[in-house]
Amino acid sequence: MKVTTIGTGYVGLVTGACLAEMGNHVVCLDVNPEKIRVLNEGGIPIHEPGLDSVVARNVAAGRLQFTTDVDAAVNHGTILFIAVGTPPGEDGSADLQYVLAAARSIGQRMTDYKVIVDKSTVPVGTAEKVNAAIREELDKRGATATYSVVSNPEFLKEGAAVDDFMKPDRIVVGSDDEQATLMMRALYAPFTRSHDRLMVMDVKSAEFTKYAANAMLATRISFMNELALLAEKVGADIELVRRGIGSDPRIGYQFLYAGAGYGGSCFPKDVKALVRTGREYGQDLKVLNAVEDANDRQKLVLVDKVVARFGEDLAGKRFAVWGLAFKPNTDDMREAPSLTIIEELTRRGAAIAAYDPVAMSEASKVLSANPGVSFCERAEHALPDADALVIVTEWKEFRTPDFDRIKAELKQPVVFDGRNLYEPTLMKALGIEHHAIGRGT
Ligand code: NAD
Ligand code: UGA
Repeated sequence: MKVTTIGTGYVGLVTGACLAEMGNHVVCLDVNPEKIRVLNEGGIPIHEPGLDSVVARNVAAGRLQFTTDVDAAVNHGTILFIAVGTPPGEDGSADLQYVLAAARSIGQRMTDYKVIVDKSTVPVGTAEKVNAAIREELDKRGATATYSVVSNPEFLKEGAAVDDFMKPDRIVVGSDDEQATLMMRALYAPFTRSHDRLMVMDVKSAEFTKYAANAMLATRISFMNELALLAEKVGADIELVRRGIGSDPRIGYQFLYAGAGYGGSCFPKDVKALVRTGREYGQDLKVLNAVEDANDRQKLVLVDKVVARFGEDLAGKRFAVWGLAFKPNTDDMREAPSLTIIEELTRRGAAIAAYDPVAMSEASKVLSANPGVSFCERAEHALPDADALVIVTEWKEFRTPDFDRIKAELKQPVVFDGRNLYEPTLMKALGIEHHAIGRGT
């Protein structure tokens, strides 16, 4: 099939590359010429494990192309994915300007039947707006081309995006149109060979499903983070509690890790947007309001622990910070808890020696205005003369560090373990002062 992705970011690029991998001919369009230049020169603008080889293979096979040429891109695809950003507006609602601009650019050019797929995360009712925007553009030029708008939200996780796309738990298609449904079924057939994972539902339910999924996952995390705070007070260990409840199949083990708060380009904005939708319809979403508040507080928990140990005034203190990206295996810094933590520590006068295995370049862009931050090429280079080590992101390489070196290089052996990487008993045996999350240490 001929497919176009409008937007070549995390979702558009992964979608385009994985659909090309299944034999489709895909054109990925972006308004950012720099992104397209990098891709056309064989680079990948984001860090996403496994994506480079899928892209390279399909470019070489002539099935995957990148362009800024809107005419060519709209003309190419029979199925057009809209995969542009939906950032939070000032009131927390999803800003649909990029989605609707993409819809208009389709309406201004299309001449034959198209299936237009909302892949971006968008509030209930957006497909109708996309439909109206296209219709308006067609009417303006008196064109009669037919089209269907379907919703196909994406559930991939950064850091595992290619795997998630190639082996989806489910593929949700919101469609009220039989022809479009058949085409979406055909497009996704190679991804559902072992059993049918494709669920067809009405458009609004599909749009809602995406927010419900992210809101549920964010709720689990905030719930565990809140219990972790209480666990510390009552003397329980949240890690043992996590295992104790996760073993119940009704609860399950995933997304129950207490930590330094959730970040990223999706949970924070999607929780906000759903709360906002609730408000719009006069429905106060009390649980989700609390989820957001709890996460804002959680991002400060490591700072509170540092202050409790070293005092409110951190002038003259230096901290090694390991892990800057919002989660491991990505260079994405959007809404990363590390940003809040570093800002709060430097605001109190501390100096930061920061390290991340892949997000250093992205981090230095967002932290460039903060003179209190220096970047280190290796994790251990951040340690000398630091008063403590603060771990914010659980990269694998931090799991088994050289503890003797940590002890020798820090001014005193103090570790703030924001992702519960280390066992308190081991830290005690090593003589390291260990401040974890919800573990009574
Ligand atoms: P992104 O910022 O990485 O990429 C969006 C791209 O769209 C940018 O490159 C931008 O230049 C481009 N763009 C904007 N307007 C355009 C236009 N009119 N024509 C062509 N290109 C245009 O965003 P993302 O992380 O890929 O997210 C896209 C959407 O998918 C969001 O709604 C997000 O919530 C959702 N989503 C993201 C993820 C994720 O892991 N990042 C997962 C599931 C869903
Ligand atoms: C999340 C969802 O997991 C995807 O299904 C969804 O498609 C995507 O949002 C989206 O809509 O964009 P992502 O943001 O890439 O994916 O990353 P997650 O692995 O979900 O992690 C999000 C945040 O939660 C991270 O900061 C992570 O550290 C934190 N987290 C995750 C915890 O604190 N505890 C956990 O147990 C799990």
